[in-house]
Amino acid sequence: MSYLGQASLPSLFCSFLSLQLCHVSQYGPLITPLANGKHNSSLFSFNSTWQVLGPFQIGTREATWGADPLEYIGGFRNLSYHPNATFRSSLPTNGTARWNVTKAVQTSGDLSSANASLSIGYSNVDWDSLKVIYGWAAVQYQAWARGELIVGGNETQHVILHTDAILEYWVDDTHSFGGDFYSFRKAPLVLHLTPGSHRIDIRLARDVRAFGGILEPTIDVVVDIQQASGTLELAKPGILMSDVVDGKLVSPTGSIYLRNSGENDIEIVSIGPANVSSHIFFAGLGSNAQSLVARDSDNADQSTEASDGTHNSYGIIIVTGQTRPVAFNISLPLHNASSLVYQITYKTTAQNRLSTLEVSQIPSRKSTYESHKITFLHPGGMASYAMLRPPAKNATCHSGQKKLPILLQLHGAGLEADNAMVTGALDPVSDLCAWVLFPTGVTPWSGDDWHNWGFADVEAAIKVIPTWIQNVGWKGPGADTDRWIVSGHSNGGQGTWYALTHRPDKVLAAAPVSGYASIQKYVPYELWQPADPRRMAVISASLNSYRHEMLMSNTRGIPIQQQHGEIDDNVPAYNSRLLAQQLYLAGSTSSYNEVPNQNHWWDTVMTTAELVDFYYKQTKSQDVLPRKLGEFSIVVGDPGDMGSKNGIRVASLADPGQYGRVNVKGRTIKTSNVQDLDFDLALWEQSLTVDGQELDLAGVAIASALTASITVHKSIDGWSVNLPALSATQPQRNGRQLGSMTAILRSQGPFIIRHGGSANTSQIALQVSRNLHQYFGADAIIASASHSISKNTTGNVITLAIGSSLEDVQPNPNFPIRVSEFGVTVLDHRGQEQAYGAEARGAAFLRPLESERLELVLWGADDEGLRQAARTVPMLTGVGQPDFVVLGESTKWRGIEGALAMGFFDSGWEVTASSVVESR
Ligand SMILES: *[C@@H]1O[C@H](CO)[C@@H](O)[C@H](O)[C@H]1NC(C)=O
Ligand SMILES: *[C@@H]1O[C@H](CO)[C@@H](O)[C@H](O)[C@H]1NC(C)=O
Ligand SMILES: *[C@@H]1O[C@H](CO)[C@@H](O)[C@H](O)[C@H]1NC(C)=O
Ligand SMILES: *[C@@H]1O[C@H](CO)[C@@H](O)[C@H](O)[C@H]1NC(C)=O
Ligand SMILES: *[C@@H]1O[C@H](CO)[C@@H](O)[C@H](O)[C@H]1NC(C)=O
Ligand SMILES: *[C@@H]1O[C@H](CO)[C@@H](O)[C@H](O)[C@H]1NC(C)=O
Ligand SMILES: *[C@@H]1O[C@H](CO)[C@@H](O)[C@H](O)[C@H]1NC(C)=O
Repeated sequence: MSYLGQASLPSLFCSFLSLQLCHVSQYGPLITPLANGKHNSSLFSFNSTWQVLGPFQIGTREATWGADPLEYIGGFRNLSYHPNATFRSSLPTNGTARWNVTKAVQTSGDLSSANASLSIGYSNVDWDSLKVIYGWAAVQYQAWARGELIVGGNETQHVILHTDAILEYWVDDTHSFGGDFYSFRKAPLVLHLTPGSHRIDIRLARDVRAFGGILEPTIDVVVDIQQASGTLELAKPGILMSDVVDGKLVSPTGSIYLRNSGENDIEIVSIGPANVSSHIFFAGLGSNAQSLVARDSDNADQSTEASDGTHNSYGIIIVTGQTRPVAFNISLPLHNASSLVYQITYKTTAQNRLSTLEVSQIPSRKSTYESHKITFLHPGGMASYAMLRPPAKNATCHSGQKKLPILLQLHGAGLEADNAMVTGALDPVSDLCAWVLFPTGVTPWSGDDWHNWGFADVEAAIKVIPTWIQNVGWKGPGADTDRWIVSGHSNGGQGTWYALTHRPDKVLAAAPVSGYASIQKYVPYELWQPADPRRMAVISASLNSYRHEMLMSNTRGIPIQQQHGEIDDNVPAYNSRLLAQQLYLAGSTSSYNEVPNQNHWWDTVMTTAELVDFYYKQTKSQDVLPRKLGEFSIVVGDPGDMGSKNGIRVASLADPGQYGRVNVKGRTIKTSNVQDLDFDLALWEQSLTVDGQELDLAGVAIASALTASITVHKSIDGWSVNLPALSATQPQRNGRQLGSMTAILRSQGPFIIRHGGSANTSQIALQVSRNLHQYFGADAIIASASHSISKNTTGNVITLAIGSSLEDVQPNPNFPIRVSEFGVTVLDHRGQEQAYGAEARGAAFLRPLESERLELVLWGADDEGLRQAARTVPMLTGVGQPDFVVLGESTKWRGIEGALAMGFFDSGWEVTASSVVESR
């Protein structure tokens, strides 16, 4: 997390220390000031003079909502530098912000690339005094910077633009929201720039989790331009593949990362070993790569040729400017080649000529007992990896332990799991009686901080262990994939709390180390633009599932070993102390070890004597899962995120805008705000009382021949075992559809982004695809409305519409939110229709599709309104997007106070009472 600072920093060392230490190495000795704005005779150069305007207040993760005070006067893009111009601002002396001029430095560059590195600070703000009052929230602020990029030569250049630590920017008249806040450099913007000067406007937004909270609050960003091929290219060198263990490829799943930097869409026709005819032919849209991988996954050593080896016009399409991960099956060549070479055959959709691109990878060879890389498919349809350490030969197990638990070790922010520093942290306990798994969560920030997208990756990695056992012919102890010991450091400590509170029936024991309780407790949400507390409540409720300090009762019965460095200045020990106290108050128990004089990270942080004891003791635990408890409570923020506790699972809430609670004492159950409950019949086979009503589960189970679980439902007549009759006009909201807007991340297969086909909607479709790949490593199929989407696609859909441009945007006439060329109507919880006309600029809302799929509709009154709506697509954690939001013009500067409506849908897809719907 915050110690990371800029994730682009090459040295891992940096990620464990404060950001500012890292800066010394990045910006200290390396810098070469630009002489008169030019760098030798490079094709590209940045003018070293930048004009900066700021600072202005902003709240934690608020920038998604707009909240830019300069929008009140038409936006930074419409302002020109003037040394005497003054701007009202709450932060600087005299309440006055001004233009300033600063110099950028170039840290690298050659004939075909250039970059500019900016470090902005403000001497006219008393940060220390603000911090005393508002804490770390005070050192998050916003500003804008304007620079100039000069393209030499006399031809249009195809380029990629990396925007490290930047969330929003303009290049000439083109706006981009998303950027590369964590400096992943996975999905840059592709541009085709004419020779001459181009204006770059960058919105600067400081974030303590990404930039640090202790030293000078500077904003440090990099823009980096590189010439691109103008056609298909590798977005990342090499192939993501599993390690070769004792001569065997442990998983056939591989992935390459392809970018189309040209101006025509490109179709991938086949991928196969170079100079070998057994290419994989793609017969369907992107999700087909998934089925090909799945088909061959039991047969690692066989040829990967697809059985339906013909190719037609439905290959994988990479639209102009798009970066996509492409999963395919790998097999080792029969001869003992040191490197694998694959050939990608493609054509532009404009012409039929085939071209090829090669990619090679030297496989990493490991022995079975070493930590090694295993690959698998994330539910989102792209490949991911985890590091696996099988139980050692001399593991100290009980004789009765046939299947060993999984010890999960969740990494901190900014770290790749394949780094020796992650896997090496448990080397001192090499003989644990467990399978040790180091998941990635897909990205160094574990997707969304190990929540919805990131934890799906953890569970996919766990599921692949039995396949690994088959593939390598493992004869050692088996794996119990429903029995976990969870541990992790920092962001991974926070992920450990998530596992504890959301999968209590699978967690045997847990050791959260130096983690934060919730993003709100890490960096307070003070200093958002002023807003009606009811609106803040909607934002806040959207984050209910991740506020671990509220969920401690879910951990009851689970042994917990906490640990935190006493003088941690990155994630303060307060977080662990608070949770230790909340555990105590919730009747749960933990052993809390605060290590004197230690900061956030030290060499043996994961193997202190207390942790080592805990690992040995818990890996040998004989506890039966799920645990049977006489008395316990369940607190649920999002049933879609939540597994069972003691065999009871909350399947839906009456109002998802507030927590649901279940209190259990023996066979007496009391609920609050809960609408459906699932009972595991293995644990709950007799009658019980729910809110004073007797329910005979056994009788119903026998009558309906149900075996595993049974759902009880609360209606106005009280609880019953009869589910409401399914109605065609009133779809029910279930399973993967539950939660706030982040529920869209529970996609099974690549996302499908549909747009109207105009230049503007296709640019925004591309932006959504870029952000999904940048922040989650996700894959997306971009489809313009004129192309029908293959029925075989299974992913969640993001639909872009301007006015009434998408004819089929209204499949259900009863849906409470409707959009048209006249604006937006919202049917509130009292059944009153609120109509917003021209004042509605944009809207974003979830809608149901069949089989628990979801659609996220992004609607704009015009291009600009659609751009506003598209900002809300889930990307950074902590933003708090609810199920729906209707944006007014003033959202641009007032943030959520400028929204016309925002809130939640209940289990019948109706607007809840907890929503805010402005009446007109
Ligand atoms: C760089 O930008 C400054 C400020 O906009 C301008 O005055 C100067 O002429 C530019 N220099 C070059 C070499 O273009
Ligand atoms: C800015 O104000 C100073 C002092 O009032 C004045 O001398 C100067 O001419 C002004 N500059 C511009 C560009 O208006
Ligand atoms: C103080 O603020 C006023 C009003 O914004 C402005 O006119 C004045 O120039 C400011 N003075 C200084 C020293 O910034
Ligand atoms: C203006 O920028 C310079 C150079 O970046 C910086 O040292 C100075 O503090 C800035 N001015 C103010 C008022 O913050
Ligand atoms: C463009 O530049 C190339 C070499 O850089 C030169 O051969 C060509 O004549 C130039 N074309 C124009 C239209 O200036
Ligand atoms: C879709 O699936 C069906 C049956 O599973 C198959 O016959 C068909 O070829 C698939 N279509 C495409 C475009 O992949
Ligand atoms: C197992 O082997 C490792 C290294 O070979 C050693 O460090 C460890 O002490 C051994 N454990 C037991 C229980 O023998």
